[in-house]
Amino acid sequence: MSPNKQFILLGPPGSGKGTQAKFLAAKLRVPHISTGEIFRDHISRQTDLGKEVDNILKQGLLVSDDITNKIVADRLNQADAVPGFVLDGYPRNLVQAAFLNESTMNVQALDLELSDDEAVKRISRRWTCSVCGAIYHLDFKPPQNSGICDIDNTPLSQRSDQAENIVRDRLVIYHKQTEPLLAYYKREGRLIVIDGTPPIPQVTENINKVLQI
Ligand code: AP5
Ligand code: ZN
Repeated sequence: MSPNKQFILLGPPGSGKGTQAKFLAAKLRVPHISTGEIFRDHISRQTDLGKEVDNILKQGLLVSDDITNKIVADRLNQADAVPGFVLDGYPRNLVQAAFLNESTMNVQALDLELSDDEAVKRISRRWTCSVCGAIYHLDFKPPQNSGICDIDNTPLSQRSDQAENIVRDRLVIYHKQTEPLLAYYKREGRLIVIDGTPPIPQVTENINKVLQI
């Protein structure tokens, strides 16, 4: 497995992890693995797992480490993830980071930095495609036809966890549980910090530049 194609994206809700993970994964030709998307897919298909986690996501709380670690381990064991992967939204706490470390020691962490207020503003104007996962923003990345996905013409929807009070709760959880991972990966010399505030193409360019890809 090539060590330089294993990435995790850190950063608060709304910092652009999903947006940038899709670009990075396409550029590296490795799968984009979003634990949030996996859970939302189970919820929309009403699987047992979906029914179990639906309320947790709605409240902006974290799904248990046992469930999340198993999902990620199963996904990383699939053949397409052997050359590398871009993990988006995982790990989210030290237990998950330690679990990931057991299977792969070579991940490079990218931290997208954004203030809480900016994150709330971005998320309130986000619309997504529940079929292909495309992410839009009414001001910064509007779809070509209002309310319709550019890729597959699906009517766009908003997520169940994007009300401002829930986003604020998710930010509190991020600062408490996920932010300590920055020190963890920094200590190991595996952290790259990216300013998430510039426009989307600029952030993409900055990531590509720092990774020399
Ligand atoms: P998840 O889906 O991972 O959500 P999140 O981490 O809270 O992040 P978001 O998806 O809200 O934001 P993002 O950083 O991806 O930003 P985006 O690109 O959309 O997790 C959801 C839930 O699942 C969790 O709350 C939890 O319940 C559960 N879960 C997931 N992983 C888990 C785990 N490991 N353990 C336990 N539970 C877990 O961008 C935001 C908006 O801004 C968009 O509209 C976009 O178009 C726009 N935008 C992006 N970049 C820019 C820019 N540079 N300039 C202007 N606008 C921009
Ligand atoms: Zn779509």
